[in-house]
Amino acid sequence: MRRICIIGTGYVGLVTGACLADFGNVVTCTDADEEKIELLQQGRVPIYEPGLKELIQANTGRGRLSFSTQIPFAIKGAEIIFITVGTPSLPDGSVDLSQVIQVAEMVAEYMEDYKVIVNKSTVAVGTGAKIEEIIGKRQKSPIDFDVVSNPEFLREGSAIEDFMHPDRVIIGARTQKAMEIMADVYKALYLIEIPIIKTDIETAEMIKYASNAFLAMKISFINEIATICDGYGVNVNTVARAMGMDRRIGREFLHAGPGYGGSCFPKDTAGLVSIAQKVNVDPVIIKATIAANQRQKMRMLEKLAALIGPFEGKTVALLGLSFKPNTDDIREAPSLVMIEGLLKQGAKVKAFDPAAVDNAKRIFPQVEYCGDMYSAAKQADAVVLMTEWNEFRNIDLPRLRKQMRQPNFLDCRNVYTPEEMKRSGFCYQGVGQGGSLVKQTASH
Ligand SMILES: NC(=O)c1ccc[n+]([C@@H]2O[C@H](COP(=O)([O-])OP(=O)(O)OC[C@H]3O[C@@H](n4cnc5c(N)ncnc54)[C@H](O)[C@@H]3O)[C@@H](O)[C@H]2O)c1
Repeated sequence: MRRICIIGTGYVGLVTGACLADFGNVVTCTDADEEKIELLQQGRVPIYEPGLKELIQANTGRGRLSFSTQIPFAIKGAEIIFITVGTPSLPDGSVDLSQVIQVAEMVAEYMEDYKVIVNKSTVAVGTGAKIEEIIGKRQKSPIDFDVVSNPEFLREGSAIEDFMHPDRVIIGARTQKAMEIMADVYKALYLIEIPIIKTDIETAEMIKYASNAFLAMKISFINEIATICDGYGVNVNTVARAMGMDRRIGREFLHAGPGYGGSCFPKDTAGLVSIAQKVNVDPVIIKATIAANQRQKMRMLEKLAALIGPFEGKTVALLGLSFKPNTDDIREAPSLVMIEGLLKQGAKVKAFDPAAVDNAKRIFPQVEYCGDMYSAAKQADAVVLMTEWNEFRNIDLPRLRKQMRQPNFLDCRNVYTPEEMKRSGFCYQGVGQGGSLVKQTASH
């Protein structure tokens, strides 16, 4: 059992806090956002994440998890401090470390005995060393401490499962003492034989960027293949499935779609470009990944235009707004590019999402948000399936079609096949499914 303070109770901080408490540690989650902490103290959860509410309830009930805005007090009382604040992109794409630095300064000011300061935020290579320097310089009197890099790989939508059963845990540290303390924090994972990579701080920081950039590249790669497939009427799903059977390639992250979004891939690929350029490397593959992704988001608008013609005066219904299913997160979601393009070109936009409507309303109040997919489709000239939520995998197609003014369907996630959509009387386009050929023969 270790006493842990989490600073930054956002997505990663809250999941980390709840899971580490579940591992038997005593955890205080802190945040500068008083409203957020107040909600959590009332037993409410500010984000949508399957299983999180129950995990929080169970561990607050056992007295192992609490929430506080009293960060100095929490720092003093903890042995291990996790930094889980945001690291957004600056306008030039480089990593904004201001929140991390602010926390490091606070830790230096309030620490009274030995601390392990664990950085879980995704940070530029060299940030761990910067934290060491800040704390060393700012301490009132010299107190021993260790800085650790422990990057996080959880996926929103399956965050608890990912944290409890990760493929690996990365621990970058300079001392044996810090390594041993971290091993104790993650003892529950040691016991189920999760691989633990012990390395230095800089390598740990690099592992996170290299992993995310590779996954983003895989997505951009299959999206490019999908576009080529479209030109030849070849089905990318079959191509991807066969490619994925090659163990050197692997089947994950080979689903053609509208481009990646979310809070990590866009900012981390941009961050890696900046990290590379600082050491005079031109990261051509990563830059191409980013460009291809932006292009892919726009391509969805072009596909829709090919289906329904000019958007002016048309009504388009979006099914799904979040950047992926099982989350309410819409940061950098392909739906944002779709909505913006449609509104700019004079379309009326209706939308339904099982979780992300409140977040979308803040950006696009002019969209008509509906309570279910069928009311969203009412009088629509096209339905666009943006996010593959489970409920969109089982649409009552005749019922949907009946609501619509014109039976156009753009399937950005390849949930359906051209054949079944044609049978249901839809004019259908997928992503690299040879949809353009189907369009010519579909009946309205
Ligand atoms: N979201 C993910 O899926 C994910 C996955 C892996 C890694 N990461 C990385 O983890 C980090 C956190 O991401 P997130 O999605 O949880 O961010 P987030 O924006 O959801 O949460 C950050 C929290 O930090 C708080 N905060 C900011 N400055 C603070 C300060 N000085 N003191 C106390 N609290 C402060 C904010 O109020 C906010 O609640 C980022 O570096 C991100 O790249 C995120």
